[in-house]
Amino acid sequence: MENYNIALLGCGTVGSGTAKIISEFSAALSERSGKKINISKIVDLRPMAAAKKAGVDISLFVNPKEELSKEEASAAIKEVLADKSIDLVVETIGGDGDYIKNIHESVLKAGKNLVTANKSLLAKTGKSLFETAKENNKSIGFEAAVCGAIPIIKGLTECFTGDDILSVYGIMNGTSNFILSNMSSRGISFEEALKEAQRLGYAEADPSLDINGGDAANKLKILIQMIYGVDARSITIGVNGIDVIKPVDVAFAKQINSVIKLICYAKREGNKLYAAVRPMMLHKDIFLADINGATNAVRLINKYSGENILVGQGAGMEETGSAIVSDIVKIARGDKQRSSIAWQECEIKPFEEHAMNF
Ligand code: HSE
Repeated sequence: MENYNIALLGCGTVGSGTAKIISEFSAALSERSGKKINISKIVDLRPMAAAKKAGVDISLFVNPKEELSKEEASAAIKEVLADKSIDLVVETIGGDGDYIKNIHESVLKAGKNLVTANKSLLAKTGKSLFETAKENNKSIGFEAAVCGAIPIIKGLTECFTGDDILSVYGIMNGTSNFILSNMSSRGISFEEALKEAQRLGYAEADPSLDINGGDAANKLKILIQMIYGVDARSITIGVNGIDVIKPVDVAFAKQINSVIKLICYAKREGNKLYAAVRPMMLHKDIFLADINGATNAVRLINKYSGENILVGQGAGMEETGSAIVSDIVKIARGDKQRSSIAWQECEIKPFEEHAMNF
């Protein structure tokens, strides 16, 4: 069987989930992809700790020692890029600065496919990275960037290509949903719930993005680019997070049979698009009110097929790792990853002009 060699750049929560699944589930992955998927190189700033967390051999790490300096890490990444035997690179380092942007571009220009969970960079680079992929005849797998294990990207690019998506909305940040639902059900404080979400590997390295709505907004921007053609770089939408929510708000919602949820929302009317990220009070009879913990839910309202709801784990080591591995299998078996199903470019309008209805 032909080998398909991958490299992991970053072996923290998501990277180690990916490595664990590839090593534990290798026979099934070979059967499904028709190739023997091997992790041939891993780069991480702390190789020893990462090897332990992922349960993989330390010899897979480039420069396998206790800790790498930034220069050593850059040299290790260069080594990966220069390795002609590597077919695909998984980036789970995170961050959206020039350093990571250059890594993404260099991977594609080096003739390798790219799989990433990096929603903030994908939202920041918009269509440009996908153009680089196209120019180099390579794919970018980004299932893990939007709603963890929920197959929303493949759902859109493979299943809903025969439909006109009128609106997309839902809960797209696991950490904030975990915080809100635990404040409501267990009466714990915001800070305690956040600490637990961090311990469980749901929160971003910088959790302020989870609680100020920035992470949810990045996911919504990626979906808007895919569905409605607006380049994520040019999307400005109103974003509020759950950082303004106090225990008294949660208690009040409960008194009136409601809960507070962080909702991402985009709706097309003609070629106008109304979009926002807001904490909202939902009556408990609305299905999104019953989505708890790190679970995410995406509801699509389609012209021809009507309503579709996708629910699943939006964050976590193995949950997000499984989405990365699904992209690896897809690309290894030769399927091209499409980046968009947009058929016209919509114009973003202020959300306040629109009455949201569920
Ligand atoms: N911090 C993110 C969340 C991780 O809580 O949803 C998954 O994107």
